[in-house]
Amino acid sequence: MAFDWAAFGVDLHLDLPAGGRRAGLERALRAAIRAGRLAPGSRLPATRALAAETGVARGTVAAAYDQLVAEGYLTARTGSGTTVAPVPPPVAFTPAATTPAPPRFDLRPGAPDVSAFPTTAWLRASRRALARVPAATFDYGDPRGHVALRSALAEYLGRARGVLAHPDRIVVTSGYVQALALLAGLHRVVAMEDPGLAFHRAVVRRAGARVVPLAVDESGARLPSASDVDMVVLTPAHQYPTGVTLAPARRRAFADCGALVVEDDYDGEFRYDRQPVGAVQGVAPERVAYVGTAAKTLGPALRLGWMVLPERLVEPVVAAKRHTDYHTEVVGQLTLAEMITSHAYDRHVRAARARYRARRDLLLARLRGARVGGVAAGLHALVELPPGGPREADVLAEAARRGLALGDLGSHWHAPGGHPQGIIVGYGTPGEARYPAALDVLARVLRAQTSVA
Ligand SMILES: Cc1ncc(COP(=O)(O)O)c(C=O)c1O
Repeated sequence: MAFDWAAFGVDLHLDLPAGGRRAGLERALRAAIRAGRLAPGSRLPATRALAAETGVARGTVAAAYDQLVAEGYLTARTGSGTTVAPVPPPVAFTPAATTPAPPRFDLRPGAPDVSAFPTTAWLRASRRALARVPAATFDYGDPRGHVALRSALAEYLGRARGVLAHPDRIVVTSGYVQALALLAGLHRVVAMEDPGLAFHRAVVRRAGARVVPLAVDESGARLPSASDVDMVVLTPAHQYPTGVTLAPARRRAFADCGALVVEDDYDGEFRYDRQPVGAVQGVAPERVAYVGTAAKTLGPALRLGWMVLPERLVEPVVAAKRHTDYHTEVVGQLTLAEMITSHAYDRHVRAARARYRARRDLLLARLRGARVGGVAAGLHALVELPPGGPREADVLAEAARRGLALGDLGSHWHAPGGHPQGIIVGYGTPGEARYPAALDVLARVLRAQTSVA
């Protein structure tokens, strides 16, 4: 006999054996407490209420409670009823697998300083946004995303990133990665920067497209040589991972190359030494799909991204989005829209930019003498290892011995072997308090491996 127990004030499912009396009730309660379905501190219903609901005699319920109090599962206090004990008795538990301990210092690229997430501003924006929306907001909506966010983004992207954006051409996605998957699913041969993020190559292949390499030099990506390329993926403002900026002549050449250009603007807001580089999309809106993300400015866990599409792609992308997840969840969208229109987003980005610039400067000061590239923007830098010097694997191993995790350049190449050696240092993490100590370890590792730092 199963009971869905509303008398707790929360719904709780209890399996009581048929005709179940005291032992059955005790077993069911123990199981619920062990499994965490009844959390420490939860108040149990009064014996009379539970008896009425389960059909078990009140005295039997009281006896079961007494037994569990004696065993330490429950606490009974006159006047405050019976509650689940603060710390449940130990349960035999064998972990299925051990997860590796996190490194003491983490300077891997990819993450911003999430300890600086603007929780107060986010909560305020969320409360304001939700207080005024009609109930229909929580029904199925437009696959492109909520119009409030698309309108806010159109204004923000035009102002801050030089994107020509109309709300009708914007599709809100679950981060950059979903935008990439949706676009790749509409194309056959996709040229991607070499080096670039291996994960993104895998996303494109899973979407059914073939990946071909685009060599990168000091002016950014070079035009594809293959003629069957129908989509090109670029990180023009700050190439990932080398950090170079796409040269003006290359920007024009890509815009005219005939393939769709996907502009991954993952960290375009964080430019330190001069004005941010405007989006390529701004000069060729019918040939470029601009993609942005909240992953670096706020946090990857929000899973909020956006694309601004050429007109011909709106309908096929909307169909693909609808058949993937219908649309992105609405509460985060409305909150971000409110953050943008109230300018809380701008304030947060400005403050974050100042903090990351200071971190970048500290990194350069600690690594004086080393060849460090890609530092004009973003949250990562490339430390070049001189030819004949230490190998990436040696530096990473030495770092690991000292509790420091770093990124390698090697895993970013389309094909292994014969490439320059380099270390990628992400300076978005760790939080402010631990960052200087992490740099000390990095400097020591490089000093031990080379003579430069
Ligand atoms: C090159 C590049 N593009 C895009 C992103 C953002 O991806 P997403 O929005 O899916 O988290 C990242 C994140 O690390 C990145 O490194």
